[in-house]
Amino acid sequence: MRVAVGSDHAAFSLKELLLDHLRRKADIEVIDMGTETETVSCDYPDIAFRVGEEIAKKNVDRGVLLCGTGVGMSIAANKIPGIYAAHCHDVETARFSRLHNNSNVITMGARIISPELASAILDTWLSTDFEQGRHTARIAKVLDYERKVCPGRAFSEKGKTVLFEHPLMLHKVSLIRNKDTSVKEFRELVQEIAGLMVYEMTRSLPLVKIEVETPLERTDALALAGKDLAIVPVLRAGLGMVDGILQLIPNAKVGHIGLYRDPDTLLPVEYYCKLPGDIDQRDVLVLDPMLATGGSASAAISLIKKRGGKKISLVCIIAAPEGVSKVHADHPDVDIYAAALDSHLNDHGYIVPGLGDAGDRLYGTK
Ligand code: PRP
Ligand code: URA
Repeated sequence: MRVAVGSDHAAFSLKELLLDHLRRKADIEVIDMGTETETVSCDYPDIAFRVGEEIAKKNVDRGVLLCGTGVGMSIAANKIPGIYAAHCHDVETARFSRLHNNSNVITMGARIISPELASAILDTWLSTDFEQGRHTARIAKVLDYERKVCPGRAFSEKGKTVLFEHPLMLHKVSLIRNKDTSVKEFRELVQEIAGLMVYEMTRSLPLVKIEVETPLERTDALALAGKDLAIVPVLRAGLGMVDGILQLIPNAKVGHIGLYRDPDTLLPVEYYCKLPGDIDQRDVLVLDPMLATGGSASAAISLIKKRGGKKISLVCIIAAPEGVSKVHADHPDVDIYAAALDSHLNDHGYIVPGLGDAGDRLYGTK
């Protein structure tokens, strides 16, 4: 289990003690997320968001947050979709926060409890599993609410399916469904939809403080931190989404996977694969406007995994339930982002109502 630990200045010594305590455990990889000293005051939300984002992005499994009382950390961490932070000052509360609430962050107060009690609470919290059963439905209600208010950011331990509800996106999807939309308009709309989807998906990217010199003075500013992005369109139709994303994230590297669906068997046939050499270091977005049987998307994801890709999401515009099920079954770790979930596939494997053949509509080949 990977555990991120953070504190403000008031709980610095407790953090150091708990880090030592955790480093002695063979089954735990511990990551110190700051702060670095007790002599310089810092703001607890900065640390809470740093740790919480690591969990929301699935870079670590659990988080431990410490401040004077533990309350500020709990309030701040619980603002992050996907974070269920339990503020605990006794072993029983910690145990039930896992058994019943599936908490993924524990917060404690260095000015409230002794280091010995904090260690005992932490041990219980780390070794207790979620009981599931009747509690699963309650947790699902919290997750549903998160999905409603923050569709791009909801969290689950398995791969999730996020359907975007932004009115601009839904309007543009209606336009590309229309059989009378021209090739030029179709191409522009696919770019715009892809850009809007990635805009929503990147809300959670972590930031770091930097200094910038304006024409007037030096000032604090923010810059993107963390892993770089690779986008991998599935040829041909996935190519139609690339420029809309590169306009927002020009530094993303672009891989290409060539697959076509055999018209008789509907199975994907691979004809090209070129990925960035450091694909294992990057968050990977696989792009394909249509998720029909899921064969192409699943094969593309397998190819990326074979070359070392670890954190992969699938971005499609229209998905069919059959494709969503196949990708989640083959790749339970992969999140699917879609602008629409349609009704079913017809006998030829086309999405209904769908938009027809995305490649042909993008490139005017029919
Ligand atoms: C389309 C689409 C997907 C695939 C989806 O590609 O772009 O890649 O079908 O179907 P699936 O989920 O059943 O695998 P197509 O094979 O038509 O190739 P193209 O993009 O070159 O037109
Ligand atoms: N590929 C497409 O382009 N459209 C579909 O409906 C299914 C697969």
